[in-house]
Amino acid sequence: MKIKTTPLSSGIKDFTNTVLSLPARFGDVAKASDKQAPAPTELFQVNKVAASLHPKTQTLVVEKVEILTDDFKCYTLKAKDGKAAYFRAGQYLSFQIIIGNSVCTRAYSIASSPKDALNGIYKIAVKRVDDGFVSGWILDNWKEGCIASAYAPEGTFVYEPLRDAKTVVGIAGGSGITPFLSLAKAIDERTENLNLILLYGARTEKDLAFKDELDTIAAANGSFKVVYVLSEGKQKGYEHGFIGADLIKKYAPENGDYSIFACGPEAMYAFLRKEVEVLGLRRKFVRFEMQGVSKMTAKKAGLTDETCKVTVIDRGEKCVIDGKCDETVLTALEKAGIAIPVRCRSGECGFCRSKLVSGEVYIDDSSDYRRIADAQFGYIHPCCTFPKGDISIKIN
Ligand code: FES
Repeated sequence: MKIKTTPLSSGIKDFTNTVLSLPARFGDVAKASDKQAPAPTELFQVNKVAASLHPKTQTLVVEKVEILTDDFKCYTLKAKDGKAAYFRAGQYLSFQIIIGNSVCTRAYSIASSPKDALNGIYKIAVKRVDDGFVSGWILDNWKEGCIASAYAPEGTFVYEPLRDAKTVVGIAGGSGITPFLSLAKAIDERTENLNLILLYGARTEKDLAFKDELDTIAAANGSFKVVYVLSEGKQKGYEHGFIGADLIKKYAPENGDYSIFACGPEAMYAFLRKEVEVLGLRRKFVRFEMQGVSKMTAKKAGLTDETCKVTVIDRGEKCVIDGKCDETVLTALEKAGIAIPVRCRSGECGFCRSKLVSGEVYIDDSSDYRRIADAQFGYIHPCCTFPKGDISIKIN
């Protein structure tokens, strides 16, 4: 094989040319403008479009408040500048809310359809929860005309045709109905292509929210079916009891070719996880939407409401705040008015990632989404981490 070599004379020529061009280059540098180069978001059209469709934060105005059931309200929110970030059915909005000295972030699944976002509109529904801090505050304070600040939609509780079966059996409990309502609307508007069989559980008929809307979509669209399941009393036209393996088998395709999507309270998940196991579905066909990590998780792990000290190191500055072993590290930060980036509050998104410097913590397997390297090198997601005693963490 012949090896091609560069003649020596051409190398000398290149060197000479470079040396000769130096004065002109220095001249260009001296004449150069000291104005900062535009950010890629301003420079390229594709980035401009992406930034307008997915702004990092949004200012929303409460346009309408509807009472759904006792302590469950639906809020129609309109983007102040008329442009709401687009989303996929099943995603959520995280709101940043300041209550007294606490800076809190809470995620609420979007109940409206992705098409509504193109008209600057979102709908979310908020239910009062026992010992809930923010939900109660929203229900008592958000009125028409109020301003709310939200991040762009996020979340992975979405239908993926490459992963999920063509038929999804949706299981909703309480406020967990909202992502399914969005999905049903998206099916009806043909922005999603799947069959959805929804099993919607509530205590009584009057606890069922959005029933008329769900019934209207089901009557008009063969790809969506809804079955209501009441846990109290007997009533014609409803299933009764709790949603478990038998009820799923009754409505799911007989050939077993389906995915399960579940969204509801922690108590429902505790029951449902065991029931779903009986069905023997492959792991990828079972999806549980995370709804935050609560005291129930801490209790399961034997943690009590014992107090502890959390030392917070923020870019070299240190402060010591109060914590509780049955409350997450994020709750301690929020109560102390220390803001860190937060979205899902369920361990999934990684926005709150912080370094555990010292002390012992508890992280439940069901909410431990850390990368293996992060877990090895002592990083934690404070939103799903409970202190077992005094700890020290580095934030930001
Ligand atoms: S806020 Fe998402 S992981 Fe903590």
